[in-house]
Amino acid sequence: MHLVGVKKLFQKWRNGDSCIFESDFQASGSMDFLYEKLLRPLLFKQDSEKAHERGVSAMALLGRIAPVRKVLESWHRLPFDRFDPVEAFGLKFPNAVGLAAGFDKNARAWPAAAAMGFGHVEIGTVTALGQPGNPQPRMFRFPEQEAVINRMGFNNEGAEAVAARLAQQSPRGQRLIPLGVNIGKSKVTELDDAVADYLKSFALLADYADYLVLNVSSPNTPGLRELQDQDRLRELLGAVAAANLERGEGRRPLLLKIAPDLNYRQIDEVLEVITEFGFDGIIATNTTVARPGPFAGVNEAGGLSGAPLRDHSTQVINYISRATGGRLPIIGVGGITDAAGAAEKLDAGATLVQVYSGMIYRGPFFAAALAKGLADRQRR
Ligand code: FNR
Repeated sequence: MHLVGVKKLFQKWRNGDSCIFESDFQASGSMDFLYEKLLRPLLFKQDSEKAHERGVSAMALLGRIAPVRKVLESWHRLPFDRFDPVEAFGLKFPNAVGLAAGFDKNARAWPAAAAMGFGHVEIGTVTALGQPGNPQPRMFRFPEQEAVINRMGFNNEGAEAVAARLAQQSPRGQRLIPLGVNIGKSKVTELDDAVADYLKSFALLADYADYLVLNVSSPNTPGLRELQDQDRLRELLGAVAAANLERGEGRRPLLLKIAPDLNYRQIDEVLEVITEFGFDGIIATNTTVARPGPFAGVNEAGGLSGAPLRDHSTQVINYISRATGGRLPIIGVGGITDAAGAAEKLDAGATLVQVYSGMIYRGPFFAAALAKGLADRQRR
């Protein structure tokens, strides 16, 4: 796909030529093909974290090259502008597909997300204190299963540094897509002091966020998932909801991200607390500590994501949707590797979806392909 081709497509679109859809989609199909046949084999020869860092740097670069970024942004918005954007918790999303937390931990890559076809992006997890994360290697690909195991451990520059970066980037109200900020507990902070730790990150980052996520579900910070226990969760959500209320007009939508490893009774308890403090939505799910099927013998600690998580996270979404009568907005994430997988999450009750591992296997324009697939489905 070169610039002359892009220009021709723009002209066709301006002339109201409806075959823009087919042309555009064929182009994104061949991009996927190029990724799978050329780029992916090269990337997969590298250590997965190094490949990931190169991906983040490439996106950061794209974000800075305004002319190329803008062409790609227009390219990916053309077909989708013809469909109703998704609305959730008071925000408008140009399409339903977002970039999940963990890819852009330090807010370096997100300015290019719209150019890659994403309808929203969630940065983080950011912790109050900067921290290096767990020893490397800590991220492992399983290509046959289209899966990933990671035990990164919230490696990030810390809330102050990330806030300073966000202050230099495009502000709320001037973004093409909503920006979520996902916060978690610093490793050195005792569980009993977790509330103050989250409040510190909230205070530093809320100004820049279109929505905020409390992550209590990553398996790689010791004790973190205990914050999903009802008493601890009540304390945490109560404190953050109160701090949010104090912001008056500056209040932000608040979401909670949960693990797929909760049983239904535990999910009910979480939903009770979410309702009690008027949280705006839930993200289901994070990575799993389960090792289903071929992973039974895999001896790597950490959270499993990608295709093996698909069915279980959809079941959790379905359960939450039924338990809340469809009234609580759900962002569905876990194992989406194609448009059918994304549609399945929406059918189960999600309002939006997010992807991470799927992008590793399907390439940088995976979100655009998914959004196209969902748009096709809506047209039928
Ligand atoms: C993650 N995920 C994640 N989630 C989160 O809330 N904070 C984080 O820092 C991270 N970090 C992270 C690193 C890596 C390498 C992976 C693969 C995943 C979880 C992610 O956002 C998502 O919930 C799961 O990966 C499930 O979605 P996919 O990957 O199956 O599409």
